[in-house]
Amino acid sequence: MPPRIGVVGGGQLARMLLPPAARLGLSLVFLARPGDAVAAVWPDVVEGEPDADGLRRLAERVDVLTVEHELVDLDTMRALEAEGLPVRPSAATLQTATDKVRQREVLGAAGVPVAPWVLATTVAEIAAFGDAHGWPLVCKRPRGGYDGRGVWMVDDLDAAAAVVEEVGGEPLLLEPKLALTRELAVLVARRPGGQTAVYDPVETVQVDAMCREVLQPPRVAPDVVRRARDIGQLVADTIGSVGMLSVELFVGRPPGSGHAGTDEVLLNELAARPHNAGHVTIEGALTSQFENHLRAVADLPLGATTSRGPAAMVNVVGGQVDPADRLAATLARVPAAAVHLYGKDYRPGRKLGHVTAVGDDVEAARVVAERAADLLTAAAAEEV
Ligand SMILES: Nc1ncnc2c1ncn2[C@@H]1O[C@H](COP(=O)(O)OP(=O)(O)OP(=O)(O)O)[C@@H](O)[C@H]1O
Ligand SMILES: [Mg+2]
Repeated sequence: MPPRIGVVGGGQLARMLLPPAARLGLSLVFLARPGDAVAAVWPDVVEGEPDADGLRRLAERVDVLTVEHELVDLDTMRALEAEGLPVRPSAATLQTATDKVRQREVLGAAGVPVAPWVLATTVAEIAAFGDAHGWPLVCKRPRGGYDGRGVWMVDDLDAAAAVVEEVGGEPLLLEPKLALTRELAVLVARRPGGQTAVYDPVETVQVDAMCREVLQPPRVAPDVVRRARDIGQLVADTIGSVGMLSVELFVGRPPGSGHAGTDEVLLNELAARPHNAGHVTIEGALTSQFENHLRAVADLPLGATTSRGPAAMVNVVGGQVDPADRLAATLARVPAAAVHLYGKDYRPGRKLGHVTAVGDDVEAARVVAERAADLLTAAAAEEV
């Protein structure tokens, strides 16, 4: 009998666990807030925050705990683990996956390539790093950032001073601003015993430091794909992840190497859960990241990660209208697109859904997915 799974969080990632859970007959209970995306479509919800009280109320109802976001009370997760409740991924994995400094320490030591970095709290320290590694540079909050919030491109000392003031003297992770040719993500499913299934790496396209599109296969050389897969496997084994892990990677030339340089593949950051970069696996792989997350957390055999062929995923970000009001027009005009709306309250700049298309080649798929995403956010349906 598979275990009853408690999921901390009720956003779109939680909601996308439901179709495979229903198909496999798995029983899920969510810890969510009343307006969350999952609450409207699933009866088994514990209302609460991911704090000690909420986590303990969820834990009472289930045999194993997992997360759909990382902003959870890790002390309570650790305590529940110590009391014998399986927590997948473990509190230790979550701690590494939520800390960009720890990721670089732990994974750099294990042989994962990372860009030069340092922790800094003062403008003088930022100046010293910029002088050693070049300007512009990137300042990041080590914890709690998402969708580019907590990442600043810093051109000069004035900009550095503004960031130091904004974070109130908290330590910042510094990195050179890399000349990126591409960004990739490798998704890895891993079971408690260590069985892994690695997905074919995908390309992520960011706009304003927020993921906008995902392309499968990525537009990089086969050697880069191989290195990305190897890094994904190494990261999963090093941090002992259980469930889905997304490893975000930079691809770029080292500074000063010109056209002669070969592409380096470097760590960006991790997410120890299903991830936006993996939405394309719903239509684009034999087993989706959501199904493999559930299988891994329930300690069931993993499904094949084989790609079904070229595919493109485009996020639907709130613009001037609610995409739900454009649903009929979009479905009528782009019948080949797989439209996903999360049922979240409309707000400009918020991820409200995504569209995936599969095709003969990635550019053809991209045209279809972009057209549907444009229609869903067009001020007037006739405009696109
Ligand atoms: N050192 C760097 N050089 C160049 N670009 C960078 C660098 N660090 C970050 N970026 C850009 O900023 C984006 C966001 O950075 P990061 O992934 O650390 O932020 P996040 O807000 O935690 O992520 P997410 O958007 O995945 O939630 C990267 O995908 C990349 O496009
Ligand atoms: Mg990122």
